[in-house]
Amino acid sequence: MSHTPETTRPELFTWEFAADPYPAYAWLREHAPVHRTTLPSGVEAWLVTRYADARQALADSRLSKNPAQHNAHAHRSGRVGIPGERQANLMTHLLNIDPPDHTRLRRLVSKAFTPRRVAEFEPRVQQLTDRLIDSFAERGSADLIHEFAFPLPIYAICDLLGVPAEDQDDFRDWAGMMIRHHGGQRGGVGRAVKRMRTYLAELIHRKRADLGDDLISGLIRASDHGEHLTENEAAAMAFILLFAGFETTVNLIGNGLYALLRNPGQRSLLQESLARGESGLLETGVEELLRYDGPVELATWRFATQPLSIGGVDVPVGDPVLVVLAAADRDPARFAGENTLDLARADNPHLGFGHGIHYCIGAPLARLEGQRALATVLTRLPDLRLAADPSELRWRGGLIMRGLRELPVSFTPVH
Ligand code: HEM
Repeated sequence: MSHTPETTRPELFTWEFAADPYPAYAWLREHAPVHRTTLPSGVEAWLVTRYADARQALADSRLSKNPAQHNAHAHRSGRVGIPGERQANLMTHLLNIDPPDHTRLRRLVSKAFTPRRVAEFEPRVQQLTDRLIDSFAERGSADLIHEFAFPLPIYAICDLLGVPAEDQDDFRDWAGMMIRHHGGQRGGVGRAVKRMRTYLAELIHRKRADLGDDLISGLIRASDHGEHLTENEAAAMAFILLFAGFETTVNLIGNGLYALLRNPGQRSLLQESLARGESGLLETGVEELLRYDGPVELATWRFATQPLSIGGVDVPVGDPVLVVLAAADRDPARFAGENTLDLARADNPHLGFGHGIHYCIGAPLARLEGQRALATVLTRLPDLRLAADPSELRWRGGLIMRGLRELPVSFTPVH
């Protein structure tokens, strides 16, 4: 019996979909690779699911990042706008702006947030990783999201920015409020964002008088053709580094450990390679985990500023376009054995960190944290096992991010 695409399209954005969106994405890639749908918020948007179309759309300058582009059109035609615009007014935000403003701000932040600064941070990331594992190693059980994947990135980025140790637990609380919001529970997120921003603005003000070696001092110092970031821009930049670098890294560690627990053959290969003191499989492995079950399911909003065609489909001006990184990274036209986790995969130009001018500026830090976290857990807790049935695990149901709410594990206690 043959089905028309309309009768067989799997449901999108349900709880089942959140647990395993990949069959639905395979269907979209095959039958409706550039597909207009209504999102849970009521916004109508195009989903782009094939690798070649996704890569092209991510680099297309006719797609703006500024929500005002869409909202002006939406309001004229009585459609639902993008809520992020309110927040965009609060801050000058790399993910919400286009060239030339984007070019200027990105150049300035790149001068302070260099791969070298990140590489020098490695011993500190290792120390944080060990300290967190110490806190539960004797117990023989843990929730690796709450006790490990969640705190590690927040303490790491606070340290890098130069947030004093005594204030870092406040950030942990604010980040917790933000991540719960992404899981669909509303409430404290507005308060958390406000407190974080007020705190950062004050910290920047204080640091300006007493510059140090930290990233915030680097942001204040950075200059480009004699231009500096204003205090407000530096606060917004520190905030976006935290905001963009926090839940993503939680998910890299959480999704990554979960994928390894579900693929024992691959996990053993990695443990053997780590025991031999090698780093090659760890490095390709983290890239493969980003491809296989990456933290960012959909790239952030883009809006057509001119009529354009994606994969042969015309997208009208003002329409939002969501590039589905998770679908593109499992496109069999680009990745052989797309549903297989292959830690040694050599040809792996995944889109997990995006592509084009908005390519993730935190990729070196994310790689460092992901590699240290996975290697240390697998080495120190070698018999780690999942302590729940996979069907019982809950996934956070936000639109952009993909990650577990909890990851209960057990292991032989380490004294
Ligand atoms: C941009 C992924 C970690 C800071 C992006 C984008 C993706 C991404 C896909 C592009 C979004 C788009 O084009 O719509 C990830 C993943 C991470 C991670 C998967 C962890 C595994 C980090 C970290 C930081 C960071 C640790 C900073 C501390 C940023 C910033 C942007 C960005 C500031 C905006 C860049 C721009 O617009 O020019 N990230 N990210 N990210 N990321 Fe990351």
